[in-house]
Amino acid sequence: MRRRHLDWGLAGRAVIVTGGAGAIGRAIAEGFAEAGARVAVVDRETAAAQAAAAALGGEGHEGFGADLAAIAALPDLVAAIEAQMGLCTVLCNVAGVIRRNADLLSVTEEEWDGQHAVNLKATFFLCQAFAARLIAAGRPGAIVNTTSQGWWSGGYAGSVVYNAAKGGVATMTRGLARAWAPHGIRVNALAPGLVETPMLVTPETTPEQVAALVAQIPLGRLGQPADHAGAAVFLASDLAAYVTGATLNVSGGFLMY
Ligand SMILES: NC(=O)c1ccc[n+]([C@@H]2O[C@H](COP(=O)([O-])OP(=O)(O)OC[C@H]3O[C@@H](n4cnc5c(N)ncnc54)[C@H](O)[C@@H]3O)[C@@H](O)[C@H]2O)c1
Repeated sequence: MRRRHLDWGLAGRAVIVTGGAGAIGRAIAEGFAEAGARVAVVDRETAAAQAAAAALGGEGHEGFGADLAAIAALPDLVAAIEAQMGLCTVLCNVAGVIRRNADLLSVTEEEWDGQHAVNLKATFFLCQAFAARLIAAGRPGAIVNTTSQGWWSGGYAGSVVYNAAKGGVATMTRGLARAWAPHGIRVNALAPGLVETPMLVTPETTPEQVAALVAQIPLGRLGQPADHAGAAVFLASDLAAYVTGATLNVSGGFLMY
């Protein structure tokens, strides 16, 4: 029989998407649903997570409310998802927060801790809780983390603290990829660029400011949430069976190196 090269291999599999009620997370959850996966949408508010799961249509999607910064509860969260949906073999960490402060001399410990708790610490401990169950079950799986272009640039316009955490995510992704490769767990990251979501463009953002952002992007437009779905699904899928430790820029060419 002729070998098939283009099967995602995700049909029927249980996939966790954190931040799945947010802009990029919702688009990624839609991508997994289209690939036939059953999606566990995790977000801070239960109602929002459940509404996002219901909006995916089809069967088998569920919403789970959790504050990911409550680190000690993360193993119970993964166990609760597994009890409802079966063993999850894909984890996509999309939840994130930014608090811009361009006056670096005024950054507080609370600002630092708040961003690092969700963006970096929760990402690590959710990876840990997820991998623990796969390793115990002797099953392979895939993790996709979300970093940012600033993991490389260092950040701008007040995003230094945020990007210190996102740099940690990119570095940690490579370390986890090496550590868990013997267990068949691949770990990769997405690095979005300038994406038209409330995290970047607010009602106060002027057309001139948007134009200045677009001017930095070779493909000539801001990213859209949907631009990230294919990349996340690819990295999680069997099509990326030989890809681990990678950080994939999804940025219209904003960052090239
Ligand atoms: N928008 C951009 O330009 C951009 C650029 C680079 C990277 N990113 C990253 O992409 C990811 C998604 O960003 P987005 O633009 O869709 O933002 P968003 O605010 O629309 O989505 C983030 C989601 O994370 C959830 N979340 C935050 N803290 C949480 C917590 N403690 N517990 C549970 N859920 C929590 C929020 O409720 C929200 O639904 C983030 O990791 C972000 O850092 C975004």
